[in-house]
Amino acid sequence: MTMARAAVRMERWGIIRSAYSLSPCAGRQLFSGEDRINVFRGLPRTDFTSLFNRVAEWEKRWQAGDTGWDHGEPSPPLLEYLASNLIDGQVLVPGCGSGHDVRALARGGSAVLGLDIAPSALTKAHRFPPVGKERYELGNWLKPDPELKERFDWVVEHTCFCALEPSARAEYVASVDFALRPGGQFLGIFYLRPRAENGPPFGVKATELDAFFSRFELKRQWTPSRAYPGREGREQMRAYYKSA
Ligand SMILES: C[S@@+](CC[C@H](N)C(=O)[O-])C[C@H]1O[C@@H](n2cnc3c(N)ncnc32)[C@H](O)[C@@H]1O
Repeated sequence: MTMARAAVRMERWGIIRSAYSLSPCAGRQLFSGEDRINVFRGLPRTDFTSLFNRVAEWEKRWQAGDTGWDHGEPSPPLLEYLASNLIDGQVLVPGCGSGHDVRALARGGSAVLGLDIAPSALTKAHRFPPVGKERYELGNWLKPDPELKERFDWVVEHTCFCALEPSARAEYVASVDFALRPGGQFLGIFYLRPRAENGPPFGVKATELDAFFSRFELKRQWTPSRAYPGREGREQMRAYYKSA
């Protein structure tokens, strides 16, 4: 490492340490070692505090068990899709939480990467016995690691898009574009009408999805017939291609 890079890294660690001291309740145990580098890698210094707050918010939920979205099983619409469709190759699940969907996809033989911003989500995911070629990584989906560029045949979305504040949606879509290889596919299970008025989860209109994903080619959109209790008729699935 050059002196200049070492200096930049030292400076970043200093900023991360100050962010820690701003939020003592989130605790020192938020990250350790490499984790800090993965989440904060490549960010301009001005982004650290807002990113830290975002991580702390999700991490606190995972540490407190405030994870009402986690039903202890894969998403029913995803299972319905997998019953008659193939998702294969290299698959990425952003905001994977404890990884139920990751493992459902890995059972079909794909190599699946589950990405989440909260270390405790991944600690929980790692407690499940491996089922195939799945792995989990700590990272910020809104600033994907350069190594993820065009690496995936599929990106599979479930309650990550709706979990993010609506102002982050354009970045979310750019990350899908970034991670998919040309000709790759995106499967989204979107929560159109959540029960709570103030998110997360934040609802989205079908017309908004049309606009956000206009750079992709829509293959199909439909209402899944299976859903978690209470979500019946509130979700929409969309399958898109990235142009080859
Ligand atoms: C509502 S939960 C859904 C988890 C999982 N997809 C499921 O359905 O069980 C949203 C997840 O996204 C993660 N998350 C939030 N912001 C993220 C970001 N910028 N990058 C990666 N993961 C993020 C949270 O930590 C949380 O685990």
